[in-house]
Amino acid sequence: SEPLRIGVAGLGVVGTGTLTVLERHHELIADRCGRPAMVTAVSARDRRKERGVDLSAVRWFDDPTAMASDPEIDVVVELIGGEAGVAKDVVETALAHGKHVVTANKAMLAHAGTELAGRAEESGAVLACEAAVCGGIPAIKTVREGLAGNAVEAIYGILNGSSNYILTTMRETGREFGEVLADTQKLGYAEADPSLDVDGIDAAHKLAILTALAFNTRVDYEGIHVEGIREVSALDINYAEELGYRIKLLGIARRADGGIEQRVHPCMVPKSAPIANVEGVNNAVVAEGDFVGNILTEGAGAGAGPTASAVVADIMDIARGTNLPTFAVPASNLHPLASRGMHEH
Ligand code: HSE
Repeated sequence: SEPLRIGVAGLGVVGTGTLTVLERHHELIADRCGRPAMVTAVSARDRRKERGVDLSAVRWFDDPTAMASDPEIDVVVELIGGEAGVAKDVVETALAHGKHVVTANKAMLAHAGTELAGRAEESGAVLACEAAVCGGIPAIKTVREGLAGNAVEAIYGILNGSSNYILTTMRETGREFGEVLADTQKLGYAEADPSLDVDGIDAAHKLAILTALAFNTRVDYEGIHVEGIREVSALDINYAEELGYRIKLLGIARRADGGIEQRVHPCMVPKSAPIANVEGVNNAVVAEGDFVGNILTEGAGAGAGPTASAVVADIMDIARGTNLPTFAVPASNLHPLASRGMHEH
């Protein structure tokens, strides 16, 4: 049957990873979807750059927005990143043309997720963002599909790999935050601006998306109390250890006094809790459903393979004709979030 025609905007780590997965698992994907999924167009800044993927058979666009309106593309995969600007133009253009969109852009969705999900719905398109939250962990699918029949009491987790790596390394080596920070740049996990990682902003972006999924609320990034890990010292970690705790940067959303409390900050977690043992660059998400109980998913929250794996899963949903909403309900059913701060109850 008809192949799904994909245009990829942005050929960085995740973009080239996505091309690699689609190429290597071409047959597996066609078998599972009942039709092939083919990259037919790409757009990136530098055409000449050697990326280790074969682009000879695909159409090249210097302008990703032009690609987003091209009639011969069914799905636009947005991997440019950034809260607004080109990435958002590409997504809006694709949706305006009734094309499906797959994106890994957590910053954009944290700020405009409700609005973009609404636009997708109006044009009958899918806007899918599994890769935006914790890379390879199926965090969105877990809440939207796995917990579909549950009221969610709380959702929380380790949502930033770089910060978790820093805290883990500080504990293992006794070194201070400032000394370990530089190491994260070598991992290929850190944001271009490391402040997004260590000041809790990246975790808050992901939490904003998870909150909307878990509680059927509009995305409310502004309502999150955010505190990062800069102030955590090796001594703090040492004391916590002696008392039987690990210090983890958690993003937490839970029901509180008729509203939803959202916060990101370093927490003392008892060593016996599974999440205390999620170490290094790994992420983990715990969802508490009223019927299922607690579900913990752990795995790689970033990197080419894991993040591309989530992008490809979304592409395959679209290839199969599964019309899943961006969040757990149609965008028009997302209700305003009554924010509850940390000290209001
Ligand atoms: N900078 C992020 C992290 C990458 O460290 O987890 C994935 O969003």
